[in-house]
Amino acid sequence: MSADVEKKIRHVGFIMDGNGRWAKKLGRPRTFGHSKGADRIPEVIETCYDLGVEVVSLYAFSTENWSRPKSEVDEIFKLLKNFLKKYSKTLIDKQIRLIISGDISPISEDLKKECIKLIERTKDYKQHVLNIALNYGSRAEIVRAVNKIKAKDGEITESDISANLYTAEIPDIDLVVRTSGEMRLSNFFLWQCAYAEFYFTDVLWPDFGKKQTEQAIEWFYGRKRRFGGI
Ligand code: FPP
Repeated sequence: MSADVEKKIRHVGFIMDGNGRWAKKLGRPRTFGHSKGADRIPEVIETCYDLGVEVVSLYAFSTENWSRPKSEVDEIFKLLKNFLKKYSKTLIDKQIRLIISGDISPISEDLKKECIKLIERTKDYKQHVLNIALNYGSRAEIVRAVNKIKAKDGEITESDISANLYTAEIPDIDLVVRTSGEMRLSNFFLWQCAYAEFYFTDVLWPDFGKKQTEQAIEWFYGRKRRFGGI
């Protein structure tokens, strides 16, 4: 693998953390932080695409997030629905393919419909992908993949697993960015992060914008990726 190919960043995953703390600092409800956090998303993903990134993954709602108060869960889903409604024109104008990773069966019918409509409408776009992890948990995703292939004759290979994940059609994650100072992966695309670089910043998600995205990507290019070689 040449140095250039080795270094190309294709897929960035964001763990958008710190919305609640950001709001608390201002004496506002946690949902205010989520709302400001959602407003940041277009700027961040478009900065990535402008810098040559093909796929952006966002951790919007994990399977563990159901344990939050119902009012907060409802607000996150409302923000997601509004985001998809508002951003659908950009997805089409900028030819961004939408993928949803996760089990969308328990979410409300109107959000589900909006997701399915946009997934279908954008499925032929090749250049850019927005992958939203929604009711997502990586271990559950791997178990689901294994269950899908267990009837196969012979040995199960890594390719079999990869091909049965939600992310089957997109490359592995090159860079994970987690905001708010937490240094955990929190069940975020464990398989797909096998060779990822990890960028942790104290900046809270609602304060994370174009400049911070550029800094993270610049940091990635300053690292040498060896994939286990020397
Ligand atoms: C983590 O911050 C954030 C979430 C669990 C939700 C992220 C959701 C959004 C940004 C809005 C909707 C998503 C999209 C894609 C439009 P936290 O609440 O855990 O913050 P804290 O650690 O400070 O409490």
